[in-house]
Amino acid sequence: MTQHIRPDFDSRASQWDNLPRRVALARAVVEAIIAEADPQPGMRMLDYGAGTGLVTLGLLPLVREAIAVDSSRGMLEQLETKAKEAGITNLQTCFIDLDSEWHLPQGIDLLVSSMTMHHVPEPAPLMAHFKECMNPGAQLCIADLELEDGSFHDDATGIPHKGFSVKDMEGYFREAGFVDVRTVLVIAVKKEREGAIQEYPVNLTIGKA
Ligand SMILES: C[S@@+](CC[C@H](N)C(=O)[O-])C[C@H]1O[C@@H](n2cnc3c(N)ncnc32)[C@H](O)[C@@H]1O
Repeated sequence: MTQHIRPDFDSRASQWDNLPRRVALARAVVEAIIAEADPQPGMRMLDYGAGTGLVTLGLLPLVREAIAVDSSRGMLEQLETKAKEAGITNLQTCFIDLDSEWHLPQGIDLLVSSMTMHHVPEPAPLMAHFKECMNPGAQLCIADLELEDGSFHDDATGIPHKGFSVKDMEGYFREAGFVDVRTVLVIAVKKEREGAIQEYPVNLTIGKA
């Protein structure tokens, strides 16, 4: 059996928040979700692939509670430390072992995910599971790279998608049964590639369960 090699987020976790470009991207995603999905004080939010919580913590003050899900214990530990230092009590972390069976919690009113879907080998069954976990009328907000040429990551080993076209991402939403699906541009991430500045658009796709 071929073992799928995945990027090692544990080893990068302690330095994750030190890159201003990454923090700015997360901030832009938070602002786009606020503008498009209008988080409310009664909502139970889930952040899939929450990492160190750059997006989770940006939205948490606007909702009742949040669950930060990730497949890296190291990333979640960084989030737990920040939450403890800030005295936050309405946040749970949830580690998932991708090599075992796992299920997300139910009763979600707002499900967000930022820069994670391109790491998911099969988005379609995951989107179907998102739908099962969400209350009727709940909103799904997925931010990810627009289809790129494969140069976004310095090392793309083990990363299954070079972003997504708007058509493909919206297709995943509709196939899973989400309605009122739409996409907005969040930000264009700039990186130096072969002596020139290359732009990588990041989109936010929104749909209703
Ligand atoms: C690029 S980081 C983004 C983290 C965070 N959302 C942010 O915007 O800063 C991707 C995160 O997804 C997690 N991840 C990768 N593959 C995953 C999967 N299949 N399921 C859940 N989380 C995954 C990684 O551990 C990492 O924390």
